[in-house]
Amino acid sequence: MIKIGVFGVGHLGKFHLNNWKTMAEVKLVGFYDPSDAAAETAIREYGLQRFKTPEELIEQCDAVDVVSPTPFHFDLCAAAIRKGKHVFVEKPMANTMEEAKTLVSLTREAGIKLQVGHVERFNPALLALKDMKLNPMFIEVHRLAQFNPRGTEVSVILDLMIHDIDIILHLVNSDVRTISANGVAVMTDTPDIANVRIEFHNGCVANLTSSRISMKKMRKMRLFQKDAYIGIDFLEKKTEVIKMQTEKVPGEFSFDIETPNGKRTIAIANPKTKEDNAMHLELQAFIEAIRQNKPSQVDEMDGFRSMEVAHQILQKIQRNQPVV
Ligand SMILES: NC(=O)c1ccc[n+]([C@@H]2O[C@H](COP(=O)([O-])OP(=O)(O)OC[C@H]3O[C@@H](n4cnc5c(N)ncnc54)[C@H](O)[C@@H]3O)[C@@H](O)[C@H]2O)c1
Repeated sequence: MIKIGVFGVGHLGKFHLNNWKTMAEVKLVGFYDPSDAAAETAIREYGLQRFKTPEELIEQCDAVDVVSPTPFHFDLCAAAIRKGKHVFVEKPMANTMEEAKTLVSLTREAGIKLQVGHVERFNPALLALKDMKLNPMFIEVHRLAQFNPRGTEVSVILDLMIHDIDIILHLVNSDVRTISANGVAVMTDTPDIANVRIEFHNGCVANLTSSRISMKKMRKMRLFQKDAYIGIDFLEKKTEVIKMQTEKVPGEFSFDIETPNGKRTIAIANPKTKEDNAMHLELQAFIEAIRQNKPSQVDEMDGFRSMEVAHQILQKIQRNQPVV
């Protein structure tokens, strides 16, 4: 049995509690949240013990789940790691690069498992592609959300775009060469909408647009590679693969076209997985990493790299601001 303590029982923390409750190998020890209103709801709805200080809760746990606002991630994670506890921390893993760097070294020194909450890695629309060889050369992403004051303590880059940055760094097997970016702060003091172009050393180019002031929601990633177009709809949890191949495969929907290089077969498929609860899968993956002493699926370096690119983007945006 792995004893878990939850730090922050706000909007996302409650979703985490719902998932932890269903796992037979997890015992929920209690929670820490400085807000009396949030605490009252957690006590009433989940019958959980409220701890007065983070230290008291850390003491009682094998692993902590940090779902507080981002500015508090570092102190809570560092305190837990220093006591040798495993850490699940929501994205972005920390507020500054200095903090993220320190968390990486502390994690390595302590030899604990740290997983960052890049939940889209576990989205069924992406998992449906696990048997396909992905080697994108051009990526187009739109992640648009309606305005919500929650999460606005950080820019749209660290709030929303970081999900796509993490996935792209995971898919593209090459280092970042250059970044161009611009963004506008409309409703808050940091960029609420941004457009970014990331070029990789292997020639791949990714264009990302993120907005938290949109009229409608959209979370789509389109990958283009030598032999295929792949559409991933994270919101609808749907995947489309349009592949060019030399011959028909029985059972696949396909048609033939003439190309300058001769006849080719275009096959269209909508791969699926049985799984559909991304959050459950990510929290379960954390537990399995601890139980089986295997690497975290989204580890401290993944969290660090996505933050590093996000901060480079923010610096580019700052430099591009008009002088008034
Ligand atoms: N993975 C995702 O898709 C996703 C989605 C939403 C939010 N998040 C992340 O989750 C975190 C929480 O977001 P939220 O939407 O639940 O915010 P929220 O404001 O609804 O909840 C945060 C809770 O943390 C509590 N809190 C404040 N200071 C604390 C401290 N020092 N220790 C413990 N708890 C503290 C607050 O009282 C509140 O109840 C943020 O880091 C955010 O970026 C991730």
